[in-house]
Amino acid sequence: MHAVVVTAWGGPEVLQWMDWPEPAVGPDDVLIRVQTTSVNFADVKARYGQYHGAGKPPFVPGLDVAGVVEAVGEQVEGVAPGMRVVAFPRGGSYAERVVAPKELVYPIPDALDWAPAAGIPTVGFTAYQLLATVARITPGESVLIHSAAGGVGTTAIQIARLLGARFIIGTVGDDAKRPVAEEAGADLVVNYRQTSFSEAVKAATDGHGVDVILDAVGGPVAEESLTCLAPFGRLVHFGDASGEVGRIRVSDLHASCRAVLGYSLGTARRARPASIRPAADHVLQWLQEGRLRVMITREYPLPEAAAAHQWMESRQSVGKIILRATP
Ligand SMILES: NC(=O)c1ccc[n+]([C@@H]2O[C@H](COP(=O)([O-])OP(=O)(O)OC[C@H]3O[C@@H](n4cnc5c(N)ncnc54)[C@H](OP(=O)(O)O)[C@@H]3O)[C@@H](O)[C@H]2O)c1
Repeated sequence: MHAVVVTAWGGPEVLQWMDWPEPAVGPDDVLIRVQTTSVNFADVKARYGQYHGAGKPPFVPGLDVAGVVEAVGEQVEGVAPGMRVVAFPRGGSYAERVVAPKELVYPIPDALDWAPAAGIPTVGFTAYQLLATVARITPGESVLIHSAAGGVGTTAIQIARLLGARFIIGTVGDDAKRPVAEEAGADLVVNYRQTSFSEAVKAATDGHGVDVILDAVGGPVAEESLTCLAPFGRLVHFGDASGEVGRIRVSDLHASCRAVLGYSLGTARRARPASIRPAADHVLQWLQEGRLRVMITREYPLPEAAAAHQWMESRQSVGKIILRATP
């Protein structure tokens, strides 16, 4: 079979479409013929050797797939050949066929198209976990979502609303991204490279701050975020797109009853795979009901993954980027 392979650490040019060994199917595994996969920022980090969950070159990057089950191991129940599924494969998703452990395979309805199917697992299940499980958002609370026009951002805005958020503020790094965050449902969008986002948040909340903040930028953005987190608020840190380290003083937390929390879907996939299934159930149900939408902005044939990476790395990309393994 063929796969997109990270042949060395480096820029998009290190991604090569080449022959790659067929994945072996163990007793607890599901073999899937890939229809679509998606580009996540973690794939870019992995290509540079900066993602904690990735291997060493040569390796196949990618986190999530949508496709048709071709075979199952003898210990697998509830999933059978011919079923349409989304999954987190074991050895990277940018391939014609992948193998996923049965715990990380989720059947999808016939009505769900292949593009939104592949675009939902990483961003949708993560956004649900961040808001519902980690931040424990309650109806009526306010939320600040950084990188609001991106894959996680556009999905998290919608999920925050579905979970009852009252006022949702998004930050973007470019004015061209504003309409995307607004279309996802943000009540206020702030360009944090032009304006102090913390001042904008305080102005919009009568100086109170927001109850929940989702931050995957890190560095100074994480530090400034704490200055506009309301008493009893939760700052959830789940990535470091900036590549910078943010420093938090514990003395800023106890008297205000605020919390700083962390989450990694990658760690949960490896250590607590069962914990993800309730998120999958909610998110796939919302998709099926048309209450949640994957905001897909570009699609590329899988062999052209390098161009898709170039686009995401340009920092101009918005929404989700999909790779198609079949014409
Ligand atoms: N912990 C988890 O389980 C988990 C799961 C999924 C994603 N994530 C994290 O969530 C974030 C969003 O992921 P995504 O796949 O949806 O990507 P994305 O938001 O579609 O794209 C990444 C965005 O990060 C922002 N950014 C800020 N500083 C940047 C920098 N120095 N270089 C490049 N981009 C920068 C950019 O938006 P602006 O310029 O508009 O800010 C960029 O568009 C990533 O940090 C990712 O690692 C974490």
